[in-house]
Amino acid sequence: MTKRASPHASPYEAPGFYDAAIAAGKHRDIVGGRWDETGRVQMAALREAGLRPDHHLLDIGAGSLRLGCKAVPYLAPGHYWATDASRDILLAGHRAELEDPARLDPRQLIGDAAFAFPGVPDTITHAIAFAVFPHLPMAHLRRALVNLRRFPRLEQVLFTVFLAPDAAAAALPCRQPDGVVTHDLRAPYHLLEDDVHHIARGAGWQVARSARMLPRGQVLFTATR
Ligand SMILES: C[S@@+](CC[C@H](N)C(=O)[O-])C[C@H]1O[C@@H](n2cnc3c(N)ncnc32)[C@H](O)[C@@H]1O
Repeated sequence: MTKRASPHASPYEAPGFYDAAIAAGKHRDIVGGRWDETGRVQMAALREAGLRPDHHLLDIGAGSLRLGCKAVPYLAPGHYWATDASRDILLAGHRAELEDPARLDPRQLIGDAAFAFPGVPDTITHAIAFAVFPHLPMAHLRRALVNLRRFPRLEQVLFTVFLAPDAAAAALPCRQPDGVVTHDLRAPYHLLEDDVHHIARGAGWQVARSARMLPRGQVLFTATR
């Protein structure tokens, strides 16, 4: 029997996906598990990028605050903002994962599936989208980078993707270093390193690839103006 392709561009678009997982207490599982390790990797990458407590961070596609539970106590109060396609998953993280929930105003957790960043203030200096674009067709990366241009103080945008080695290989399923199999036309998605540079350049950014090893074989890029 052949496996039927999902009608959704991303598993997160399946109707009821968030409600069922949150109701079952699985708010950690639906962002991929490996909770502490993945939060620590993100904090380390941000610290290496120069993030200080007085900076202002935007966590894009932040899920149940796997990074937020570490970034909120590190940053000055009010300096962490997060978006996600589901505001409910952000709020589930707020309820369950923050050491001191009073340090994060829930109004700084914003439902946004279009990478439009509504209500995010101009003070943002750093942004991160970790394990978000691997779940989405690559035009979402372009939208995000185009829309991030409006933040005047934004110094660096960190984001992860899966890569395929070349154009011919990209048309085939690609096994990543951690064993995840990625695809060009369905999730989890891969793209070419050239695609990343091209998309970023067109959106007004230049990108550098990091050598840091990441969970599941993702590759980290940093965009600067
Ligand atoms: C693998 S999780 C990663 C969550 C978080 N960045 C982390 O590392 O813990 C992917 C996240 O992307 C979010 N997401 C999926 N599609 C999105 C979209 N179109 N806009 C914003 N977030 C999206 C999902 O809701 C989910 O929380």
